[in-house]
Amino acid sequence: MAASGAEFAGRHPGWPAKLGPVTVRAGTVRLRPPRLWDGRAWSEIRLRDKEHLEVWEPTTVGSWSERNGLSAWPPQWASLRSLARRGQSLPFAITLDGAFVGQITVGNIVRAALRSAWIGYWVSSRSVGGGVATAAVALLVDHAFSAGQLHRLEATVRPGNESSLRVLRKVGFREEGLFLRYLDVAGAWRDHLCFAITAEEIGAGLVAKLVSEGRAQLP
Ligand code: ACO
Repeated sequence: MAASGAEFAGRHPGWPAKLGPVTVRAGTVRLRPPRLWDGRAWSEIRLRDKEHLEVWEPTTVGSWSERNGLSAWPPQWASLRSLARRGQSLPFAITLDGAFVGQITVGNIVRAALRSAWIGYWVSSRSVGGGVATAAVALLVDHAFSAGQLHRLEATVRPGNESSLRVLRKVGFREEGLFLRYLDVAGAWRDHLCFAITAEEIGAGLVAKLVSEGRAQLP
């Protein structure tokens, strides 16, 4: 019988892990569990990148500076670590040439007969346009469908988020439909396009696909 979320308590498949390296136009991308000492880089980037990030992120309590100041990181980090240990999430820091540049997370993991989750990500405005998010998504999808034992991943994106739509299409997510008033983002209920991919669709893997298309290189 398929395992439920509770059965994985204390031994979450696919966690912890270090993924990569994959080299893209911007440099070498790796994924690793978030660390307490990522706080300074995380906060510096996010305080500087309010305009780049806020319009695409779920609405939460508090001002941008309260939610992204240095003191906001330890509780966020502890929450990510706790969800990962309980088998509900696979949260990773994205590094580019060794420096923290963003986050990518597989969240809301449901096991048993569904084995499904969502995937979400952000990258510093100073590191965009060079294939970083594409490499991160490919690495994490491959991992989630192998060591992570998942079968389906969903990504929901606002229709105007051209770069995120491009990331998902490049790696091979399928567009499944439009969710009306789906998520409270930047203070209002926003429509989102739903994309998905299942384990049967990745062939030899999404990293291998990027390499075969000349979008990425392995060491
Ligand atoms: N129109 C069309 N394509 C665009 C545009 C645009 N306006 N802007 C960028 N692109 C293309 C780029 O050229 C690139 O494609 P290419 O490789 O074919 O040239 C692609 O979009 C972006 O691919 P990457 O370089 O791999 O992605 P990047 O590292 O730039 O990160 C991301 C993209 C994560 C969306 C970043 O811009 C970001 O963090 N944005 C703010 C937060 C955000 O929107 N997160 C995603 C929310 S949705 C979700 O998580 C499922």
